[in-house]
Amino acid sequence: MRVAIVGGTGDFGLALAARLVEAGDEVVIGSRDAGRAQEKAREVGAAGGATNEDAVSAADIVVLATKADGTLDTAASLAGALGTTPVLCVASDLRSKESVSLAERTQELVQAPVVAGLHSLAAGKLAHGRPDEDAFVCGDDADAKALALELGAKVVAGRALDAGPLSRARVLEGLTAVIVSLNKRYKGHAGIRITGLP
Ligand SMILES: NC(=O)c1ccc[n+]([C@@H]2O[C@H](COP(=O)([O-])OP(=O)(O)OC[C@H]3O[C@@H](n4cnc5c(N)ncnc54)[C@H](OP(=O)(O)O)[C@@H]3O)[C@@H](O)[C@H]2O)c1
Repeated sequence: MRVAIVGGTGDFGLALAARLVEAGDEVVIGSRDAGRAQEKAREVGAAGGATNEDAVSAADIVVLATKADGTLDTAASLAGALGTTPVLCVASDLRSKESVSLAERTQELVQAPVVAGLHSLAAGKLAHGRPDEDAFVCGDDADAKALALELGAKVVAGRALDAGPLSRARVLEGLTAVIVSLNKRYKGHAGIRITGLP
């Protein structure tokens, strides 16, 4: 699978890149600065680094992993370059007062099918190997969601689970705040595993 990670120089994007490279995927790190992208790509053995716009040009799937408050502007600026390539939005805005998710708002800006997921995976754990957790993905486009589930399954020791339509991103994005609260309260590194599924 050819994966472009927009904002892949950050903690989450780089950790995800490391796991996907390990799984044999062809990963391109995207950044606003091509030099920084190339440097980070070398760190994790990715196929290359480029500006965000160049990175997305030959991808099968694009992970939108910029800092959360850069998500919408970045998606809008890449709309043309993305075309119809599926986009996996991993962003959670902890301070958001919006009732609509970032992923749904991203979908309004691009023609490409947008799915959302991986919100409950902490970069710090992902950086050190496949966490013993499940990953959730939601979306309205069946093909894009299948691709994102395939990607998710490669980076966790648990399962990648279909959490429903794109509107479910409101819940998935909110999970990050729950995990942060649990970590503070119990001084740990919370992750999620679902029980009771066949
Ligand atoms: N950290 C986690 O544990 C975690 C877990 C699950 C999901 N997420 C989500 O993953 C995304 C990335 O998280 P992160 O912790 O890796 O964030 P981060 O390190 O703060 O930022 C990631 C990258 O975003 C780019 N960036 C920063 N401001 C930007 C802007 N205004 N416009 C465009 N690009 C900008 C930077 O890349 P360049 O300067 O190189 O362009 C930066 O390296 C967020 O949406 C977050 O909600 C994070």
